[in-house]
Order: sequence, then C-alpha cells, then structure tokens
Amino acid sequence: MLSFSCGILTLNLTLALFALVCCPGSGEKAFKVHVRPKKLTVKPKGSLEVNCSTTCHQPEMGGLETPLNKTVLAEQTQWKHYLISDISQDTVFQCHFTCSGEQVSASFNVSVYQPPTQVILTLQPTWVAVGKSFTIECRVPAVEPLDSLTLFLFRGNETLHSQTFGKGAPALQEATATFNSTAHREDHHRNFSCLAVLDLLSRGGDIFHKHSEPQMLKIYGEGAPRMEGE
Ligand SMILES: *[C@@H]1O[C@H](CO)[C@@H](O)[C@H](O)[C@H]1NC(C)=O
Ligand SMILES: *[C@@H]1O[C@H](CO)[C@@H](O)[C@H](O)[C@H]1NC(C)=O
Ligand SMILES: *[C@@H]1O[C@H](CO)[C@@H](O)[C@H](O)[C@H]1NC(C)=O
Ligand SMILES: *[C@@H]1O[C@H](CO)[C@@H](O)[C@H](O)[C@H]1NC(C)=O
Ligand SMILES: *[C@@H]1O[C@H](CO)[C@@H](O)[C@H](O)[C@H]1NC(C)=O
Ligand SMILES: *[C@@H]1O[C@H](CO)[C@@H](O)[C@H](O)[C@H]1NC(C)=O
Repeated sequence: MLSFSCGILTLNLTLALFALVCCPGSGEKAFKVHVRPKKLTVKPKGSLEVNCSTTCHQPEMGGLETPLNKTVLAEQTQWKHYLISDISQDTVFQCHFTCSGEQVSASFNVSVYQPPTQVILTLQPTWVAVGKSFTIECRVPAVEPLDSLTLFLFRGNETLHSQTFGKGAPALQEATATFNSTAHREDHHRNFSCLAVLDLLSRGGDIFHKHSEPQMLKIYGEGAPRMEGE
C-alpha cells in the first residue's frame, strides 16, 4: 500500500516537472474576452447596451449569441458594442471571440426588475382596545425579483418586523408581510408604516425605496386617551 502511494507521488512529480518544462502557461488561453458591464438590470421589455471586447489583435470571429433582438451599435477589430432589446426574463448572455482557431467566451448576467411603486398598509381592526391584538399587513403588487426585496413594518421609528422573500417565486408577484401586534396606550399618537426596499446592488443595479402612507390606530379602553365625542 505504501509503495503504491509512493509510486503515484513519483508519477505526479514527474508529470508536474514535465508540464513545467514542456508547456509553460499551459491551461491558460493566449487571449482574453471581456464584457462590460458584467451584471445589468433591466425593466421588463427593456433594452440595454453591452460591450464585448478581446485582447486578441486580429480575431477571426466575434459575437454575442442570443435569440433576442440585438443590434451592433459600433464596432472595431477588438470590440463590438451591442444593443439588446425586449428582455423579459433573467438571462445569462455570452460574448465570444475566436483567435488563431481558438474560441474564448465571457458571460454576463441580466436581471429583470420591477421597482415597488405601490406600498399598501392596512391595520386590522383600526379601532383596538389597549392590550388587544391587531394585524398589520403590507402589500406590494407587481415587484420583482422577490429575493431582492425586504419589507419593513414600523411603529413610529421602531422596526416591528422585517420580511424577506425566497427565490423562485413567479415573476411580477405580489409581496405581502403580516405581523400581529398588541395595542399600547401610546399607539394613539404613533404612525404605522411600511417600507419596501428592492436592493439590486449585487445584480449590478440600484436600491429602490418606497414608503406606504402612514396609518394610525384608534385606541380605546383603560388608560387610553379619550376619543373626541366620548
Ligand atoms: C468597448 O470596449 C473597448 C475595450 O474596453 C473600448 O476600447 C471601446 O471604446 C468600447 N466601445 C464603446 C462604444 O464603448
Ligand atoms: C426585432 O426587431 C425588429 C425591428 O424592430 C422587429 O421587426 C422584429 O420582430 C424583432 N424580432 C424579435 C425576435 O423580437
Ligand atoms: C450569473 O448568474 C449565475 C447563476 O445565477 C452565477 O452563478 C454567476 O456567478 C453570475 N455571474 C455574474 C458575473 O454575476
Ligand atoms: C425614535 O424617536 C425617538 C423620539 O423621536 C427617539 O428618542 C429615539 O431615539 C428614536 N429611536 C430610534 C431607534 O431611532
Ligand atoms: C395573526 O392573528 C390572526 C388572528 O388571530 C391569525 O389568524 C394569524 O395567523 C396571525 N398571523 C401571524 C403572522 O401571526
Ligand atoms: C403621522 O403622519 C402624518 C402624515 O404624514 C404626519 O402629519 C404626522 O406628523 C405623523 N405623526 C407622527 C407622530 O409621526
């Protein structure tokens, strides 16, 4: 057993030495392909520009493979600047160049997004006795991607609850966060609100914030401030 592993070690060493002597830099391509930007975000049906380039001085061929509509906006021997249009779902694109018969490609990711435009907060019931529970619900229709979304529920400036969403939810779905709370005497003069944050930084995009209209509870019962007309 010992002599067997020694044999393998010797063989590995021989191979390593052979590789060093025979083919310096083997395994590395002689030229590179770049895409700028590497990550992009786009609204549904939107279009975007991307630049594919190579370090090869005289590429025989180069291009961008996609079934979508693409236009070459500008090009020179070592680069092509494309416009891709009507993008409706997350896609990984590839740019490739061929140099001395060898092809190298580089990929870039496009994420389709829809920022939160409506953030709807509902308190149920709106008329609560001190110490009784009520439900806070926040709804955000037509937002994506859900795995980049966080909903925050606030009482005044205090975060009561924050909710994130998993991957794989269908596109343009409604996101909902619910939280059960207990009415306090002080809630009488506190605003409840919801904040939707769509963070696309890791996908090459921006951060979008959208607040709901503030809502107030009507509090009654022991220790509660007296309502008008009571
Ligand atoms: C595309 O990228 C290449 C290499 O970085 C650059 O030289 C060229 O100016 C770019 N073209 C456009 C239209 O941005
Ligand atoms: C590409 O664009 C042309 C002109 O705008 C349009 O006629 C054609 O239907 C588009 N093709 C696809 C696959 O979207
Ligand atoms: C593109 O997306 C794939 C799969 O989602 C991921 O593995 C890869 O790291 C992404 N590439 C970039 C440049 O973000
Ligand atoms: C919330 O607001 C109160 C009064 O405006 C302040 O004293 C308190 O520090 C704030 N709390 C947080 C977490 O910002
Ligand atoms: C909140 O309370 C309601 C009624 O008591 C209950 O049906 C619901 O499951 C609760 N929701 C959460 C998020 O705890
Ligand atoms: C609650 O929100 C309303 C409307 O934005 C605002 O006028 C009021 O000052 C807020 N009250 C508190 C206590 O923050």
